[in-house]
Amino acid sequence: MKISCFLFAFLLFFNISSLYSAPKYLRLSYTGDTATSVAILWNTDTDTGSLVKYGKKSGNYTMSANGTSFKANGALNYVHEVILTGLEPDTTYYYIAGSDSDGFSKENSFKTGPVENNECGEFSFGYLGDNRPDPTFGGGENWPQILDQCAAHNPDFTINGGDLIIDGDQIDQWVKFLGWTEKVASKIPFMPAIGNHDDGPGQGDSANYNQIFALPRSAGNFGSDTEDYYYFTYGNAIFVSLSTQTFKDGSIPFEKQAKWLDEVLTNNPRKWKFVYYHHPTYTKNVVFDISHVPNEVKQNAAFVPVFDKHHVDIVFTSHNHWYERFEPSACATSGNPGSDQPCSVGANSFDKGTVYVVSGGAGAFTIPGLLCGTMKGRAKCSGDHHYIIVKIRNETLTYEAYSAYPQQNKIMDSFTITKTKGNCILSPDAGYEDITADIPADIISRDTDEKDASADVFLMDIQDTSVQTDTGFYEDIPDITEEDSSADDRISDDIINNDILIADEESGRDIINGTDITNGYDINISKDSSASIQDDSAGCGCSLLK
Ligand SMILES: [Fe+2]
Ligand SMILES: [Fe+2]
Repeated sequence: MKISCFLFAFLLFFNISSLYSAPKYLRLSYTGDTATSVAILWNTDTDTGSLVKYGKKSGNYTMSANGTSFKANGALNYVHEVILTGLEPDTTYYYIAGSDSDGFSKENSFKTGPVENNECGEFSFGYLGDNRPDPTFGGGENWPQILDQCAAHNPDFTINGGDLIIDGDQIDQWVKFLGWTEKVASKIPFMPAIGNHDDGPGQGDSANYNQIFALPRSAGNFGSDTEDYYYFTYGNAIFVSLSTQTFKDGSIPFEKQAKWLDEVLTNNPRKWKFVYYHHPTYTKNVVFDISHVPNEVKQNAAFVPVFDKHHVDIVFTSHNHWYERFEPSACATSGNPGSDQPCSVGANSFDKGTVYVVSGGAGAFTIPGLLCGTMKGRAKCSGDHHYIIVKIRNETLTYEAYSAYPQQNKIMDSFTITKTKGNCILSPDAGYEDITADIPADIISRDTDEKDASADVFLMDIQDTSVQTDTGFYEDIPDITEEDSSADDRISDDIINNDILIADEESGRDIINGTDITNGYDINISKDSSASIQDDSAGCGCSLLK
């Protein structure tokens, strides 16, 4: 009798255990406003509820939110997604996730992003890429340690350049990745870009990658209505994840994505702009093709003009398993947008070009640093495993690359970018409709010719003939309509989209003599009337592209 009771209890326990579907692989991401919402995802083996209980004090869950679940591919089983909205900015919340019937996770916490106002506060993010194991080359499983080292800096979120696993259609690899990543991603939102190893089965919503993550979907005329490329904003910064693995459509490769990017950067002006995708724009092709070639999927001709036009601050890529950081580059501005080689505008000329980074060292076997060699326009190369931390405090950006496990965890590269003080949200994009409010900041940031920076630029709205007084940076600017209204050469033909005229008041010569450069370069500033509009060889560095 005693034995049968024991057996019954054992069988009952075993049966209940097998039915119990505990939440696992918790992960956070953004699908909307980063100041007031967060997406919480997890997996279960059976179809259970999707409930998050949360509050501002540990153990005191005063609020709750239900979400949805769906049966994902194979052993991913059920993916649960709860999006918390209406949160307070810059606030820490504690949460548990699961269901009343099957239990909840242990408590985790997260912090919402800063509210968008003139004081954007301080935040930081991490960049990692190619965290997959690399058994082909005897590489170890370094990702959990490197992710931990990155997380020790308390970044507000991490972005990732892709190659999260080796074979995107192999669910067991995703399960391993999710297990390794949960410790950090359950507290710090994880925002990936899709790598060439991450795809499949199929493209878009059918792929494991897309089923595992909840990311914003690209919308509009040039969107894909998938999560393969997307953007989010965080305080005074915008982050755009492009896909160099999928959606190559266009008359040139990736033209559609480039148009979408142009729209996104125009409609979401931010002081700091970051773009990340998998395949390097510029990189050194090491002997015997040990490393991938630059511009491998021919994305540069479509993307680089948009980066230059909006002055993206940093482009992060991965794919080559080492670290490279290039001097600020502006190939489209210099007339060669599809170049495979960087077009340096000066080692520290962050106001004139975009910094391109290759960071493929968060786990996979790395190319030995001995093979770095030299390369024109490259500021740093290393074969160490690594991760990157970027800190932003209003107008100052601090970039630090750290070597990581199994190498010593220490800074191996750093730089600082300081922008003009001012409204921390509105960017100086030429393409933005409210351009008149922002152009002074852009001019001052790009015009680094100190001896010439007194009062030689002003703006005029051709249509209503009002002069933009440019008060932030150029005082006592004479009104062109009063002082020099007969100067025909100050009238730009570029009135198609931008009623802006830019001239050098002092010499009266430095006018953009007006042809609209219809391929998207609608506004330019030049200090040398003899120089062609796109030719910045005079060194003024003040080409301003729409
Ligand atoms: Fe890779
Ligand atoms: Fe790759």
